[in-house]
Amino acid sequence: MNYSVVACLRKYTTKALLVAFGVVSMSNYAFSQDKAKGEKTYKAYCQTCHQANGQGTPGVYPPLAKSDYLTSQPKDKVIQSVVYGLSGEITVNGKKYNGVMNPLPSNYTDKDVADVVSYIYGSWGNSGTAVTEADVKAAKASYKKPEGGGRRRKG
Ligand code: HEC
Repeated sequence: MNYSVVACLRKYTTKALLVAFGVVSMSNYAFSQDKAKGEKTYKAYCQTCHQANGQGTPGVYPPLAKSDYLTSQPKDKVIQSVVYGLSGEITVNGKKYNGVMNPLPSNYTDKDVADVVSYIYGSWGNSGTAVTEADVKAAKASYKKPEGGGRRRKG
């Protein structure tokens, strides 16, 4: 068997496993569907900085995998960081970061935000909780502009 056939089979096996996973978790079906959508958004947008495995980039982009910062923040604060951006010094797993995460582009819907936050909460060994569209709406409604920080206009 030549290499390309092996590579092709591997790809196919991964897909089959993903499908099998979906079927096995029937009881959690709606959640895993949303998680799959969250994963898509993660791959399209967040992964550039936080990496596919959520490890981030040492000293530049903080990890999301097993991030003590992520787990210690209330859910609405995490949603607000994703929607409105985050800057200033933070400590994640004992390392300091002082970067800027831009607001999420406005073409992403509240549902997209709910799905992607559910995805990071439920991946890489993080203790997952599902985030709903209603949670996102509530977090937006209670958002207070940070001192001296810019707030994205609602639109
Ligand atoms: C352009 C790079 C970039 C992208 C894209 C990005 N982030 Fe971030 N993110 C950062 C930086 C930089 C910080 C740290 C900000 C600081 O130092 O205050 C951060 C911090 C965070 C934090 C809090 C810190 C932690 O590690 O727990 C979370 C949660 C987070 N990002 C989630 C996301 C999610 C979800 C997405 C996609 C919707 C995303 N980020 C997209 C750069 C990025």
